[in-house]
Amino acid sequence: MKIAVLREAAAGESRVSATPETVKKFIALGAELGVERGAGEGASIADGDYEAAGAKVGDRAATLKDADIVLGVQGPDPEALAGAKPGAWIVAGLNPFVERTRVDAYAAKGFEALAMEFMPRITRAQSMDILSSQSNLAGYKAVLLAAAEYGRAFPMMMTAAGTVSAARAFIMGVGVAGLQAIATARRLGAQVSATDVRSATKEQIQSLGAKPIFVESVAGIEGEGSGGYATEMSEEYQKAQAELVSSHIAKQDIVITTALIPGRPAPRLISDAQIATMRAGSVIVDLAAESGGNVEGAVPGETVVRHGVKIIGAKNMAGTLAADASALFSRNLYNFLSAFWDKEANKPILDEEIGDAIRLTQGGKVVNQRLLG
Ligand code: NAI
Repeated sequence: MKIAVLREAAAGESRVSATPETVKKFIALGAELGVERGAGEGASIADGDYEAAGAKVGDRAATLKDADIVLGVQGPDPEALAGAKPGAWIVAGLNPFVERTRVDAYAAKGFEALAMEFMPRITRAQSMDILSSQSNLAGYKAVLLAAAEYGRAFPMMMTAAGTVSAARAFIMGVGVAGLQAIATARRLGAQVSATDVRSATKEQIQSLGAKPIFVESVAGIEGEGSGGYATEMSEEYQKAQAELVSSHIAKQDIVITTALIPGRPAPRLISDAQIATMRAGSVIVDLAAESGGNVEGAVPGETVVRHGVKIIGAKNMAGTLAADASALFSRNLYNFLSAFWDKEANKPILDEEIGDAIRLTQGGKVVNQRLLG
């Protein structure tokens, strides 16, 4: 059983899908590890560290030769997988809805592609959840970026030269990233408020010492779809939410948006007209910028200024904390594969619940219900 760890090919991707720690653990399970030269560079892991952990470091061809499992942070180019065994597993964040052509190519080449972001949200799979581990870091970093771009301080300061007032931060979308953003903004001394469509988050917001801002006027709103994810809201709700946001946002200095709906474009939460009501010098970070954007005008990977407000379009925010992001991502992959490791067969054998959820391709076909249905 050979596991290949590739150097990420996507522009700006600094993370790596295995660390010396997980390499050692995979070897202890009985696997042989090949690591592409320079794979850990962006995460400050030297080739020698992988070698010391027991991996063979080599060029791409040597790394892929006879691989049964190919690990990645993002999905590798299907054309650049020559040498891997027929039917090899590709285990990575495959972004299946956006990268559908690539998924089709994995199928055509006979690979079994496993999308880690389709991991079901069940208790036993929590330690395998790449969305959680990466979103947590993204939520933290979003606040730091906002603080760095903001021309004022976050905490209230009483000085001999006068008082500096606390920044007001508003977090929209209180999932994993939003909760971490609340906690981080609070630690920096901001006055924090937050909103979500899932009413269960109200208590979580309060328990972190922030103020919940919720639509109360539309009856019967729960907002929770399957697996703890949000559903798309009714038009009536969206209108009420827009009104609520309009009145609140004009008084905010920092806004972090994190709202996502799986398989759908991110909901639009802030319009250009609403941005125009904010004080000049305010900062908005759109963590959903790569998924369609919560904020009108946000551009992934760029900072644009509209009406004097800086709008930071996030792009691979977790990747800016490459060492920690890689450590957590790698553990997610190890926790997943090791949980299903069959000692006798010396390979992982998936059960139906998790296998069916994450398997995109098998036997030359796309087999995942979320892509077919
Ligand atoms: P996400 O990344 O899909 O979305 C971020 C947040 O945006 C969510 O809280 C969502 O409700 C909110 N949102 C969506 N549309 C919105 C709108 N129009 N306005 C305002 N907010 C909107 O969600 P994430 O962070 O992945 O977590 C969702 C839930 O799943 C959380 O309760 C989390 O604790 C739970 N979870 C459970 C896991 C498990 O049991 N294995 C693992 C990870 C998360």
